[in-house]
Formats: sequence, structure tokens, C-alpha cells
Amino acid sequence: MTTLVTGATGYLGGYVVERLLARGERVVALVRARDDAEARARLWAALELHRTPDPGPGPRAPADLEAAGAWLAGHLAAGRLALVRGDVRLPDLGLDAAARERVAAEVTGVVHAAATLNRRSSRACMDVNLRGALEVARLVRAQAERGRLRRYVHVSTVAVAGRRQGEVVGEDAALDFARSDWDPYAATKKFAEHLTERLLGDLPVVTVRPSIVLGDATRAATTQFDMALAFVRLAQSPVLPFVPEARLDIVPADFVADALCDLHLAPAPRHRAYHLAAGRTSPTFREVTDALARDLGLRPPRFAPALAGPGGRAVAALSRLRGPLAPVGRLGALLDVFWPYLTWDVVFDHARVVAETGRTPARFPDTCAALFRFCRAHGFTYPHAPPPAAVLAAPAPDASPPGPEAAS
Ligand SMILES: NC(=O)c1ccc[n+]([C@@H]2O[C@H](COP(=O)([O-])OP(=O)(O)OC[C@H]3O[C@@H](n4cnc5c(N)ncnc54)[C@H](OP(=O)(O)O)[C@@H]3O)[C@@H](O)[C@H]2O)c1
Repeated sequence: MTTLVTGATGYLGGYVVERLLARGERVVALVRARDDAEARARLWAALELHRTPDPGPGPRAPADLEAAGAWLAGHLAAGRLALVRGDVRLPDLGLDAAARERVAAEVTGVVHAAATLNRRSSRACMDVNLRGALEVARLVRAQAERGRLRRYVHVSTVAVAGRRQGEVVGEDAALDFARSDWDPYAATKKFAEHLTERLLGDLPVVTVRPSIVLGDATRAATTQFDMALAFVRLAQSPVLPFVPEARLDIVPADFVADALCDLHLAPAPRHRAYHLAAGRTSPTFREVTDALARDLGLRPPRFAPALAGPGGRAVAALSRLRGPLAPVGRLGALLDVFWPYLTWDVVFDHARVVAETGRTPARFPDTCAALFRFCRAHGFTYPHAPPPAAVLAAPAPDASPPGPEAAS
């Protein structure tokens, strides 16, 4: 399959591109960039995490960077990886004529992972998550009409389940327009799913809904830090206004990416929607904060659920701080957007994905220590290296050789 991946420069998109290439698949990566050199540099930044050893305290080893650069350059030169510049909000994804032709002629699968996760901006969420889902749906329809579509994976989120409390949610019960939503991100991702199913209900479409994606069971390093920072700050608090036995549905990114690729490449997935979630194996708040406190060398926090209301209001007030108190304001804003997902005690049944892929997610209390050590050692940033020269210099053929790719 030749798969168009949107959001290829993002956290999950990078995982998907790397895994599809590693499985011998062809990838066309949609990248926002002013020119091809910038597009390559941005894709390198997304793939570096996967192709180089986890950064240690010292400088990165040149040989490791060169090997990773040679891997990426090799895929580009062989036409197994092509970069097209575009923007999911625009008609035809903003592709130029050559890229449009290439996509029409080569693409047989689509993974749509581009989105804004800016929960505080309804403007951005409407703009990217709704306009983007519509334009991708139009492209998927066009590929189907050309007889070329084998699979479309629409990446959604468990946040579409809306306001709930204390439930285990199955895939078919998640989308419920009688419920209100936590934030503009959840609302727009919910309508994007609805739009996808209404417009493409007759096509081979799979919707995947990851829960909170945090860390990787196979490595310590990450390039996504917001949620990790929120958890470290919570574990450092002497008192937490949460129910200690409330469950937190958290999954590592390697599980999400592997399961997503399995479903994308499966000849006939049994369902149209899958929760990529921890489900009934989700840890409790106490398990998570105990594990973190152990690792951070702290006394585990005490829980005071009666303070949940005032705690939520305090976090919302902190999020509005500006000027010299802006750093506190930023932490408040971070906790404010995640607050509903910390307090709702809702988990997402994952029986479908486990049965179909044979994969189960590692439990967060077992993986968080390595993640948090990495985050703290690197100041909650990933020490990116510039793209090796081979990545920028690699020739890129105009189109990959035609293969027997059309959908049957
Ligand atoms: N991370 C999680 O915990 C989580 C959980 C559940 C579901 N999800 C879903 O997983 C998907 C990927 O999330 P992520 O965590 O990987 O997010 P991310 O790291 O923020 O990546 C978002 C990607 O979307 C791209 N994008 C944004 N606006 C675009 C536009 N107008 N045109 C083209 N590309 C655009 C970004 O490109 P730039 O690099 O150019 O900005 C980036 O590549 C999303 O659909 C999200 O809803 C994520």
C-alpha cells in the first residue's frame, strides 16, 4: 500500500511514518513547509526520535545521526518515501499540480493524523479539525472513485465521548450527540468522526480513538511533554483534589502506533471503530502518583476529593495569570485543559483492538519512571540535532515506480 499520512511531522504521525516504512510500506507524507528543504528538516525532526538511540547527558554520537540520516535519505532516494507540501484546511489539501497528480496516481491508503490539540481555541479547532476532516474525506472519496482506495484510517480521540463520569465506554456508545463536550477539541473531533462516517460510510474506513498517549514502553525518550509535565507537577503537590481510586486511561505511543498500523494494513478489520486505550486495565490515580513519587523521591501526595470543585476553579483562575506570573499561568492553563480528563474516571473498552491485533498496552505505572527521568534530565525538551546532510541532499524521484496497487 502507498499511504498518504497527514500530521506526519507530529508526535503520532512520526510514529506512523516510521513504522509503515519499517514494515516495507510506501509513504507519502503531507508536511506544512515553505520549501522542500524545510519539509525534509521537519520530517527529520519527527523521525529522529525513532531512528537514533535515546539521547543521554552528553552530545549525540555523530555515527548515530549519520546512520539515521542514511536511512531516511535511502527511503527518499528509492521513492519509498515522498514528501508533499500542503495544508489540510485547503481544497485538495493545498497540493500543487505535481503533488496532486502524484497522490492521485500512487496513494491507496490514507492515515489522517493531522489535527490541532489546542483545546482552548474553538477557532483553531474548527479551522483544522473540521475543515481538515472534510478535505481529507473529499480526497479519500476521489481515490475510491479512481478504484484506488484500500483503507482510510481516521485518527480520532476518546475525548469524543463527551461529558461522562465513572463509566467504561464501548466503541459503539462513544459518539452521543445528546451529550455536551468538554472543550472545542473534543467537539470538533466528534463532528469530524460523524462527518467521516456520513460521507464515507460505504468505504473501507477505520476510525481509531487513542486515549491519553503518554510515553513509550520501549524507550524513555519522547517529543511530547505537556501531559508529562502536568503529571510531574501533580505528583509534586502535597495534596491532590482527586478521587484516589479514579482510573486514568493512559496508553504508550508504541502501542497506539503499532495497533493503528496493524488495522491500517489488515485485509479486513472486523469493526469500523477501535479504542486504542487501556480500558479495564487502566491504573488508578493513586497507582500513578505513587509510581511517580517513588521515582521522583517524594512522599506520595494525599488525596482530598472534597477539594475537587475549588481545585478546578483555582486552576482555571491560575490559567488567566499574565505578566511576571505568566509561568504559573502556563502551568495553570496546562492543568486546566487536562482537568476534565483527570477527574472523569472514564475508561474505554479495548477488547476489540486486543482481540484483533493481539496487542495489549503496557501499564503506565510500569513505564512512567523511565519517561520522567528522561523529561527531567532534558528539561522537558527533546535535544534535536539538525538534519544530516544526506537527508537534505538525497535525490527524490518524481514518482515511485507503478506497482499492482489498485484496490480490488
Ligand atoms: N497525543 C495524544 O495524547 C492523542 C490522544 C488521542 C488522540 N490523538 C489524536 O492523534 C492525532 C495526532 O496527534 P499528535 O499528538 O500527534 O498531535 P501533534 O504532535 O500536535 O501533531 C499534529 C500534526 O498535525 C499537523 N497539522 C496541524 N494543522 C495542520 C494543517 N492545517 N495542515 C496540515 N497539517 C497540520 C501538525 O503539523 P505541524 O507540524 O506543521 O504543526 C502535526 O504534524 C490527532 O488527530 C489527535 O487528535 C492524540
